[in-house]
Amino acid sequence: MTTATAMDQDKAAAFGGRMMEMISSGTLMMMTSVGHEVGLFETMAGMRPATSQEIATAAGLNERYVREWLGAMTTGRIVDYDPVGARFSLPAEHAASLTTAAGPVNMGLWAWSFIGFGETLDSLAECFRSGGGIPYSKFTKFPMVMAAISAANYDASLISTTLPLVPGLVERLKAGIDVADVGCGSGHAINLMAKQFPNSRFTGFDFSEVSVNAAREEAQGLQLKNARFEVKDVATLSGPPAYDFITAFDAIHDQAHPRKVLRGIADSLRPGGTFLCVDIAGSSNLHENMDNPMAPMMYSASTMHCMTVSARPRRRRSREHVGEQKAHELFREAGFTNIETKRIDSDPSNNYYICRK
Ligand SMILES: C[S@@+](CC[C@H](N)C(=O)[O-])C[C@H]1O[C@@H](n2cnc3c(N)ncnc32)[C@H](O)[C@@H]1O
Repeated sequence: MTTATAMDQDKAAAFGGRMMEMISSGTLMMMTSVGHEVGLFETMAGMRPATSQEIATAAGLNERYVREWLGAMTTGRIVDYDPVGARFSLPAEHAASLTTAAGPVNMGLWAWSFIGFGETLDSLAECFRSGGGIPYSKFTKFPMVMAAISAANYDASLISTTLPLVPGLVERLKAGIDVADVGCGSGHAINLMAKQFPNSRFTGFDFSEVSVNAAREEAQGLQLKNARFEVKDVATLSGPPAYDFITAFDAIHDQAHPRKVLRGIADSLRPGGTFLCVDIAGSSNLHENMDNPMAPMMYSASTMHCMTVSARPRRRRSREHVGEQKAHELFREAGFTNIETKRIDSDPSNNYYICRK
């Protein structure tokens, strides 16, 4: 038998208020996502204070919808409103976080992508009841969402900041080496590197045909002769050692068989080769994530997408929760003995692990 303890009424009232704020912010996030998708933030960033009709006309949208959206944005303190003349404006300080000017930390893009992660919530409820997972193929928006969020990130930092994290790598890429990207998605990282380093040869692997087709299309558009893409389950990777540098951008934590994949990567690296693994920054221990303001978002994204795509239906369990400690353990198990963890300012949600055998 449990004994009821006396309830702290102030605590209950404060928590109820916080939950109400959360619901209000949650709905505002949905409207932020729509605003991003239809280009309203970009439009407003370039405008003087304007009426809903002027904003709708400038954005090429329906005024009635724009007016209601502006109601949400104004009461949500995202947009300023002057009732004299009924004019709305997006302060420059807010546009700095909601437009392409923000690069990889464009919160409009983040809102849009997290709404995208939620596209299978009905199936997710069923997983809570019966276990199992939701396969990648059910996330129809995912390739597009991931491509957009990754492109913003890679464009801002891949060549200028990320590759120089590995000592001597840029010089080797200039001279000409073999590079593979595991779980390459829509291939933007490979294509950017292939364009920058024409003497090196690049291969991207992903089991999503939709993503690989998008990657090939981009490579073709850029007339790249040194980038190729293969539809492949990276859990089948094995030697012989054919690569000098292998990358995995946000593609290890959602593997059904991370040990197999990492072993395959280690076996595919030539002597002296490097594996760069970019993956979720955070502790593997729940209690150590309490002060990380991004932690609720990461656990939610994991529940909605990363964990459920890695679940193995027959065994009705998914892989272990990853995080820095677990990642190091998995790298060591795969045969990497020299592992460094680095961070970059423009990508607060990831660790950059540099692994050598
Ligand atoms: C979170 S996305 C990251 C995509 C890309 N690296 C990026 O940064 O945009 C993970 C990618 O890994 C791919 N993936 C997951 N498991 C895979 C497997 N076993 N074999 C091949 N690709 C896999 C998915 O299709 C998806 O494109």
